[in-house]
Amino acid sequence: MSRSPERENAIECRGITKSFGTVLANDHIDLTVRYGEVLALLGENGSGKTTLMNMLSGIYHPDEGTILIGGKETVIHSPVDAAELGIGMIYQHFRLVDVFTAMDNIVLGTKEKRLGAKELK
Ligand SMILES: Nc1ncnc2c1ncn2[C@@H]1O[C@H](COP(=O)(O)OP(=O)(O)OP(=O)(O)O)[C@@H](O)[C@H]1O
Ligand SMILES: [Mg+2]
Repeated sequence: MSRSPERENAIECRGITKSFGTVLANDHIDLTVRYGEVLALLGENGSGKTTLMNMLSGIYHPDEGTILIGGKETVIHSPVDAAELGIGMIYQHFRLVDVFTAMDNIVLGTKEKRLGAKELK
């Protein structure tokens, strides 16, 4: 994510809440990440870490709360949106889309996917 003025934070989560049915996975989460900062999110199994990351990477959408990217309130609609904002996700468990070829899986998150198959190979 490219650097912005010092006063801005790279990412700010304010009051992020997400439920799955009766399971409250994230309960009003506030998180600030500064530019250049390396953070570890620690918590027991099922405490909601991946859920929060999935919302930052556009896979899930918060029920409540706001996300600010570079100081600007932002709705991250999809993983493509997230990638354009400089947010990438590396999952703890390796993921493949079964119906895609090996090459399709490799280029899935790249911006070069508009190239033809020959060029991609
Ligand atoms: N898609 C989903 N549908 C239903 N419940 C879900 C879904 N995703 C997460 N949950 C539930 O939300 C809660 C938080 O899960 P989450 O995966 O975010 O935790 P975690 O902190 O990443 O756990 P772990 O350390 O095991 O990776 C759990 O109770 C989980 O079962
Ligand atoms: Mg997890």
